[in-house]
Amino acid sequence: MADPTTIARLRAEFDHAVAAATTDRDVQALRDRFLGRKSGAVTALFAEVARATPEARRDLGRLINELKSAVEAGLEARRAALAATRLPAGGVDVTLPGRSIGPGRRHPLTVMRERIEAIFSRQGYEVIDGPETEDDWHNFEALNMPPEHPARDMQDTLYLATPFTRRLWAAGTTPEETGSATLLRTHTSAMQIHYMQTHRPPVRVICPGRVYRRDNLDVTHTPMFQQVEGLVVGEGVSMADLKGTITAFLREFFAPDVKIAFRPSFFPYTEPSADVFIGCQACKGDGCSMCKRTGWIEVLGCGMVHPAVFEAVGYDGEAVTGFAFGMGIERLTLLLHGVEDIRQFYENDLRFLEQFPS
Ligand code: DAH
Repeated sequence: MADPTTIARLRAEFDHAVAAATTDRDVQALRDRFLGRKSGAVTALFAEVARATPEARRDLGRLINELKSAVEAGLEARRAALAATRLPAGGVDVTLPGRSIGPGRRHPLTVMRERIEAIFSRQGYEVIDGPETEDDWHNFEALNMPPEHPARDMQDTLYLATPFTRRLWAAGTTPEETGSATLLRTHTSAMQIHYMQTHRPPVRVICPGRVYRRDNLDVTHTPMFQQVEGLVVGEGVSMADLKGTITAFLREFFAPDVKIAFRPSFFPYTEPSADVFIGCQACKGDGCSMCKRTGWIEVLGCGMVHPAVFEAVGYDGEAVTGFAFGMGIERLTLLLHGVEDIRQFYENDLRFLEQFPS
């Protein structure tokens, strides 16, 4: 019915609906509902007015026109207000919270390497660095492993395909057989040779670095890992010095009361040689899967430098003696933190890496 009450009601209805419109589509739907040519509520009022008496028509017509203007103005104002809240193309909402950038952190293996370096530095050691590609002589031969030496089988070596080794392979020989290949060092022990070739005793160095072996990835093997080599040479250096040094290191690295055992072993470049074990940190010696139920875990190899090594580098084995040791950084880190899978150190998953002190 086209009467003042209906017109006032429609106006109230419109004011309410337009305030609730939050998108351009809402605004368009409101326009259709009130002003649509076929079914708009205001449009319908005009049609009814046409049928009213001439006297009533004038006042009603004015009221409906006012309503129509108010609806049009309301729709336009709402459209403008919505447009104002939209960002211009390419615009930036400076009120959005920023993306936080966490501080960088060092890799757990780096942290561990630096800890080991710090412990030995305090004992007066120099930290040295050396090449990751080696020749056969430094990696094997000078360390008392001649080409036919069975100890070479202990380490599966990655040989580099140099033009020279390619010729060897083509001729049906292997670089291993000729003892003249370039390879990725299989242990940091090769640095003992470099250092002694270029320095006179006394020697007190550690050499951390990457080493490479032809191992397949599994929970305890990666084809690249890191070692720390130690070498001490001088007059009267004894096995007691070796035991004292290693014991002091392990106590500082693991715990002052860590249990330590030296057991006879074999390395071609040391005589006598020993493997060093610590009491299992996981089970405290009761026996678990970590220590294969023995209560002990091997942590490093060591021994007194073999006279053949001194001879290879031109040291006088009558005048000086020395000891050497080598340990794996990943292995020590696994044991210290109770990590079960060595591969995790190299998968760069921040959820893993962020668990370690940096
Ligand atoms: N080179 C040995 C390895 O890779 C570790 C090692 C053992 C180093 C005894 C030494 C040593 O210097 O004396 O497993």
